[in-house]
Amino acid sequence: VPAAPSAITSLAFAAVAKSRDDKVTVPVGYTAAPIYALGDPIVAGVAAYKNDGTDVDMDKRAGDHHDGMEYFGLAATGNAPDANNSERGLLAMNHEATSNADVRSFYLHANGGTVNPRPASEALKEIDIHGLSVVEVKKTNGQWAYVQAGALNRRVTPFTELQLSGPVRGNALVKTKYSVDGTKIRGTINNCGTGRTPWGTFLTGEENWAGYFTRSRAGHTTDNTIRGNDKSVASLNRYGVNQTASSRHGWETVPATGDAATDDRAARFFIGKTGASTDGTDDYRNELNGFGYIVEMDVFDKAVAVKKRTGLGRFAHESAAFGKVVASKPLAVYMGDDSRGEYIYKFVSTKTWNAADANPTNRITTGDAYLDTGKLYVAKFAADGTGTWIELNIANAAISGYATYAFADQADVLVNARLAADAVGATKMDRPEWCAVHPTTGEIYYTLTNNSNRSITVGAAQEVDAANPRAYDDLKNGANQGGNVNGHIIRMAETGGEAAALTFKWDVYLFGAQATPETVAEKPQLSTINISALTDDNDFSSPDGLWFSQNTGLCWIQTDDGAYTDATNCMMLVGVPGVVGDGAKTTLTYKDKTGVTTLRTVDTFVGKQPTATTLKRFLVGPVECELTGCTETPDGKTLFANIQHPGEGLSPADIGDPSKYKSHWPGNAGYQATAGNATSRPRSATIAITKNDGGRIGS
Ligand code: FEO
Ligand code: CA
Ligand code: CA
Ligand code: CA
Repeated sequence: VPAAPSAITSLAFAAVAKSRDDKVTVPVGYTAAPIYALGDPIVAGVAAYKNDGTDVDMDKRAGDHHDGMEYFGLAATGNAPDANNSERGLLAMNHEATSNADVRSFYLHANGGTVNPRPASEALKEIDIHGLSVVEVKKTNGQWAYVQAGALNRRVTPFTELQLSGPVRGNALVKTKYSVDGTKIRGTINNCGTGRTPWGTFLTGEENWAGYFTRSRAGHTTDNTIRGNDKSVASLNRYGVNQTASSRHGWETVPATGDAATDDRAARFFIGKTGASTDGTDDYRNELNGFGYIVEMDVFDKAVAVKKRTGLGRFAHESAAFGKVVASKPLAVYMGDDSRGEYIYKFVSTKTWNAADANPTNRITTGDAYLDTGKLYVAKFAADGTGTWIELNIANAAISGYATYAFADQADVLVNARLAADAVGATKMDRPEWCAVHPTTGEIYYTLTNNSNRSITVGAAQEVDAANPRAYDDLKNGANQGGNVNGHIIRMAETGGEAAALTFKWDVYLFGAQATPETVAEKPQLSTINISALTDDNDFSSPDGLWFSQNTGLCWIQTDDGAYTDATNCMMLVGVPGVVGDGAKTTLTYKDKTGVTTLRTVDTFVGKQPTATTLKRFLVGPVECELTGCTETPDGKTLFANIQHPGEGLSPADIGDPSKYKSHWPGNAGYQATAGNATSRPRSATIAITKNDGGRIGS
């Protein structure tokens, strides 16, 4: 276990300025170097990535769109864990998606790719660059690099066999042609946030899985009878599953090749009813009930099954953050559902913490013990700065008697957690992205990235409330209704600090804002009022990645922004937060365009405003990227972060004209410069950040 943290309480580095340059900028005195990019081979003997669309063997290379990531220390030699090693370890990370337009992942194909029907060769390549990777990284003479032949290097793709674990395992809802007993499934997809367990395994959340599947396919008559009743349609609708058009990548359109295995792999992305069975064991009508989970992987053992922890509920998962671990107390896992108006959840284990499990002999069976049995709760925020956790249990009359959807059993409640949370009246949030837990206070932070559906209209489905108090702004379009454009970071303190508490207090740590908004004098716009008093040194929009250093206690914030990108690329900020309740109750006043007439007011709770030494911009990324994924060596002296989708906005027709690429990073930063420097195709990549004087990051 890493040494106890020594908190950094004042930020001494000079803040990084907003920038639209196609590079990674860090403070003076720091270095950020790309070390692991899309396509890098992670198996001995696999060729270097040419990055011209002709590469093959994508399941033996780094995937695309690097996202959440965790560092696991390795012993100096061999394959055993050493949680204290800051010079050799494993990076386990998500490869969420690909840069895509009109079904084609254009940077992966020489000609930018082919529209529907998709050629099998393109589809299989795109599928393989999704999933997870584990790669050994090592520091030699002060420089980090990944190790191509690392013994524990691996890929998990959408075709890798995974186990379903927990209450949904074996349920009728997950029986498919591939698993007639409902115990296994192929793959994990659209993995977004991550987490790590107290017993040393990796957790990853399946986020926008719904878009990869469809119930519409040429030649198929849409049949509303999915499982022999209409309630499955209610479920598909609630999870936003496509029922009238191609899936995101059109993988289901791959023409039959005659090879049964290849054909079945493409067929599973079509989830209409094609078989004659009543239980779904002869087609993939139930396939989607096997996606949308937190997945656990033992990064130190490739032979151990990767497991979907169904007890933690099915939704568009981001990260999974454990509450403070206390001996003989249950464990809490906090999770968000990133979609407009979705919910904040926590899982509480039945088993209480046994300190001997910090270093168990069998990590995945330890996971079985803590993650397969417990209770799932959803958060309801009250207007007085308190809140309650409501258990999602079939025994709750609001759930068992829910008119919209007839739950069959507790597994059905977990599979359709969104519907169960609707039934109990949980609070609809402004897109809960990552959550993270402060290492000393145990308070729980959630980024609420933005929400175009938030409205000041009384009675609106996502009407402003105390915990989601901003709407009604859109400076660029001069409109009166733009939802919550810049997002905020909410935080919660469990009553008594207990994982199993049923009540909490909350406030808003930070409200995103532009320090100097484009002034439209005649249109006072509330959400651009700078509630957290941000300055040019720390203003931001659309917080997404969120992570606390266990070493320094610093709060790292990463942005995935569309509202402020006319002024700056996405960024990382670092903060020294206080505690829930250190600020004040605040009334937000909405006025009409005249600035005279008050339309309505909303009370909220705003944390103590940051200062020049408690919140600073630390990094700005390349053009069209998102910053996501953040992890550290246990000494706090190396921070790894992911640059996701630089140059994502390209028309596939322009693939032959590098002058049209908005980004050439990291080729233009000298990474594998033979790939073509300033003309190369951009690649998602991991960067290693170090301080030139060898100090801790943020000091
Ligand atoms: Fe994959 Fe919600 O970010
Ligand atoms: Ca995210
Ligand atoms: Ca996002
Ligand atoms: Ca993303």
